[in-house]
Amino acid sequence: MLIRKLRHCKVNCVRIFLCIALTAVTLMLVKNHNKTLFFSKRNLELEENQDHVNCTKIINGDIEEIQNAKLELIRVDHKKRHIWLTEKDFINMTRDCYSFTRDRKYILYPLSQEESEFPIAYSIVVHHKIDMLERLLRSIYMPQNYYCIHFDKKSSESFMAAVKAIASCFENVFIASQLENVVYASWTRVQADLNCMKDLYDGNTRWKYLINLCGMDFPMKTNREIVQVLKALKGENSLESEKMPGNKEFRWKKHFEIANGGIQKTNIDKEPPPFQIQVFSGSAYFIVSRAFVGHVLENDNARTLLEWSKDTYSPDEFLWATLNRISDVPGSVPANSKYDVSDMNSIARFVKWQYWEGDVAKGAPYPPCSGTHIRSICVFGAGDLQFMLKQHHLFANKFDVDVDPSAIQCLEQHLRHKALYPNSYT
Ligand SMILES: *[C@@H]1O[C@H](CO)[C@@H](O)[C@H](O)[C@H]1NC(C)=O
Ligand SMILES: *[C@@H]1O[C@H](CO)[C@@H](O)[C@H](O)[C@H]1NC(C)=O
Repeated sequence: MLIRKLRHCKVNCVRIFLCIALTAVTLMLVKNHNKTLFFSKRNLELEENQDHVNCTKIINGDIEEIQNAKLELIRVDHKKRHIWLTEKDFINMTRDCYSFTRDRKYILYPLSQEESEFPIAYSIVVHHKIDMLERLLRSIYMPQNYYCIHFDKKSSESFMAAVKAIASCFENVFIASQLENVVYASWTRVQADLNCMKDLYDGNTRWKYLINLCGMDFPMKTNREIVQVLKALKGENSLESEKMPGNKEFRWKKHFEIANGGIQKTNIDKEPPPFQIQVFSGSAYFIVSRAFVGHVLENDNARTLLEWSKDTYSPDEFLWATLNRISDVPGSVPANSKYDVSDMNSIARFVKWQYWEGDVAKGAPYPPCSGTHIRSICVFGAGDLQFMLKQHHLFANKFDVDVDPSAIQCLEQHLRHKALYPNSYT
């Protein structure tokens, strides 16, 4: 009897002891976890200031500092002092993914529950400049998102190897299963995005919106801000879609062919667009819902429109714009001109066209370019950041480290700080 009682007590004592021990271990773990979070936040700040430029001043539009950044660019030893990461460097660095993600300061845990519950898919179409691609990826990378990278079949072997090496370090970054030989202004540009769309759509059902990017894009908002803006769209898409100017109609009224690596117009008239739909003018860049992607990939009428667009000039600049004005396309708006959306009203991309630049006080949509122009589009300099960051767009085009590295550096530093310490910005 006594022995049984003692035994009973023993069992209870062991239970109580285990219970206390477990609580203690849990408390220690929680404390350590908070500690690592705290320390890793500091480790994630981007402070490399290779160009001796004060980014706080740049972002605030300090004219003297912007002038400084420009002078930095023409210093004789500028190229020497700047550390350019090459394809070889990335192949080497990614042999150890742990140290690669640590040294390049990738964010490997979701920064908020809201973000982790709202994954975004990205289709990234590139053909060169690995350092730009890696900095773009680093600036938009979050473990809950999905990234499809399409590199051109014409890309160099070492570029392809470096992209594959970077992708191999992340479970949610992959190369498109079908690769195109992208010819400027031809259907192949659309096909590259479609290949990624299909892989992303078939890959999983979690993501809510798709954003397509190229190698000269850079974000203007943090992932948290992007999530909040996408949620506010409530299923609608956001992309440029306006009345087709008369001087662009030849693009889809004539049959075009790819010859000698370029696109060429023929004298052959094309059939009018299917279903008598109105063709709208827009850009290659879109922000579309998952339902829109499903419709484009699976709907018979959408596929008929895609098929009809294949022998046109620059279908990327009218196809998405047109799809988004067809009433049975998810997230679309009516074809009525009251629903026209300009590039400035869409949130997809902030672009400065040379012929629109001017004095904002006198009615221009944006101030003059502080970098240089390529095909009438501004390649941003440090002086473009202040105005840009006040706009509602999620991404801006074009950036190029070879034109102004401080513009990219200051932007990525600013966004990283904002992502880690969102409360100091409200
Ligand atoms: C950069 O400029 C800001 C604002 O003028 C100033 O507070 C900060 O100390 C400067 N940073 C450096 C590293 O000089
Ligand atoms: C690869 O990286 C290591 C460590 O940074 C370095 O010591 C080595 O020289 C690099 N190898 C090549 C081929 O660049």
